Amino acid sequence: MRDPLKIIGANGKRRENDFYPTPPECTYALLDYLRQNFLLRSTDVIWEPACGSNAMVDVMACQGYPVIATDITQGYDFLEYEMQDHFDWIITNPPFSLSEQFIKKCIDYGKPFALLLKSQYWHSAKRRELFRSHTPKFVLPLTWRPDFTGKGSSMLEKAAAYLAEKLARSKAGKALLEGNAERV
Ligand SMILES: C[S@@+](CC[C@H](N)C(=O)[O-])C[C@H]1O[C@@H](n2cnc3c(N)ncnc32)[C@H](O)[C@@H]1O
Repeated sequence: MRDPLKIIGANGKRRENDFYPTPPECTYALLDYLRQNFLLRSTDVIWEPACGSNAMVDVMACQGYPVIATDITQGYDFLEYEMQDHFDWIITNPPFSLSEQFIKKCIDYGKPFALLLKSQYWHSAKRRELFRSHTPKFVLPLTWRPDFTGKGSSMLEKAAAYLAEKLARSKAGKALLEGNAERV
């Protein structure tokens, strides 16, 4: 197991392990989208492999989904640990500094997945090959700016997009609409 990461960003310190809990409306919007498009069934088991303080898990459980929740702080390094239990989906907001490794690990599992990523994620030339080899079935722009720090409006860096792989259906040009944050 690697030591917990201390990551320093260009604008100062990032939190240990890149810990930024996801505002609930993001998870509601994603689950609503997946369910309404018949991609996620109510009985599907969701694995949240970087669950942090369970911000996404609480919404998933509140919606009735069976959830497996693990995090590196519990001793489960997603990049090294091999999940043995059955799951149908991987859904998480990964640590940004490891997002590419998280995507590749999700691809290796061969299950559908949805990750919360920066909206400008695919603007990087160094990710072009990954985009070509495993083109996302969906890139769903959020139509609001979630507050990841609890300090009000978010920076561009905190805007988000979702990616899913190996889905039965593909729909382009969709966007997530902000849900009611008070549902948890
Ligand atoms: C941006 S936070 C998101 C937390 C949670 N997914 C959420 O949406 O609220 C990133 C999380 O990734 C965890 N993490 C960092 N590196 C990890 C790794 N290699 N394997 C599993 N979890 C990791 C951190 O401990 C932290 O909880």
